[in-house]
Amino acid sequence: MEGITDGVYRRVFHEYFGGADKYFAPFLSPSGDFRITHREKRQLLCDLGAPYTVVPQLLVRETETLAPAFEKLGGFGFTEINLNLGCPSGTVTAKGKGAGLLRDLDALRRLLDAAFRLRGDMRLSAKTRIGFASADEWPRIWGALRSYPFAELIVHPRTREEYYRGGTHPEAMETCGDAPFPVFYNGDVFSPADAQALEEKLGFLSGFMLGRGLVANPSLALELRFGEGLQAQKLKAFHAALTCAYAEEMPFQGLHGRMCEIVSYMSCCFENPKKALKAMRKARDAREYLERSELLFDGCPLKEEPYFDPLGLKV
Ligand SMILES: Cc1cc2nc3c(=O)[nH]c(=O)nc-3n(C[C@H](O)[C@H](O)[C@H](O)COP(=O)(O)O)c2cc1C
Repeated sequence: MEGITDGVYRRVFHEYFGGADKYFAPFLSPSGDFRITHREKRQLLCDLGAPYTVVPQLLVRETETLAPAFEKLGGFGFTEINLNLGCPSGTVTAKGKGAGLLRDLDALRRLLDAAFRLRGDMRLSAKTRIGFASADEWPRIWGALRSYPFAELIVHPRTREEYYRGGTHPEAMETCGDAPFPVFYNGDVFSPADAQALEEKLGFLSGFMLGRGLVANPSLALELRFGEGLQAQKLKAFHAALTCAYAEEMPFQGLHGRMCEIVSYMSCCFENPKKALKAMRKARDAREYLERSELLFDGCPLKEEPYFDPLGLKV
């Protein structure tokens, strides 16, 4: 998740929780000969030699960006690249990138033709939505996508217009039952019950990509796999380790903004977190921030069934 699950987050998350087969890094939007920012490069290099698999994601439309991107990312040691066909942001879709590709299937085919021609040994996967304006677009989009030899396809069954609002449309994915590659489901999987209901509905799924639910409840992958529920003290230790890791990377202002955002997700797992969050937001340095975090981790009981609530985010 762009702006949240960076290299530092992945490293500390894996140390404390894990449970995921692999991690998709937030999108890179390189130009020309794969010029990425110094920060993006540092984030990627963070993953080199890590004891877990990371898949970088590209947000591109122009085919000339592909060869330098594959070459540089392959040179860093990555063996799979994910193509972003789903980002709903207006600034992205205005350039015809992300979900913008879904309303221009010729441009999508041009991109995919070039990507599969140039990829060499690189595994290519993609993450898509089911339409730009309407789910009725999905059969045509699916018709185009299924003709490529993806390593896997992740489907977020909402349209671009829906952003992350309202319910998902899993029924649209029934067409993927004859997919020639593994299909993964993404969207609003916040509990084992959510995952189970989807597995029953879409028996062909190869698995799930977790987003906000995992940031809110970092034990969610472990819970889906092994039934290992969230424990407040483990979450507290993870939160402290993450705060210290960011303190080594950036000044307090940056770390504070980042941690407050992550904690607003985590707060969905607690009863009555408002006061604690407010105190944490007003902290003036890292030590005060961590002291005040005890109000949340020691002072607020965990909900019996932690569950991410998009409406509860901005408490
Ligand atoms: C703040 C934020 C940043 C995101 N960044 C990315 C991204 O870089 N690449 C991507 O494929 N999806 C990105 N997403 C979308 C998530 O991967 C996911 O598709 C979405 O949150 C729905 O899944 P969830 O209900 O499990 O969170 C982002 C979502 C949010 C809220």
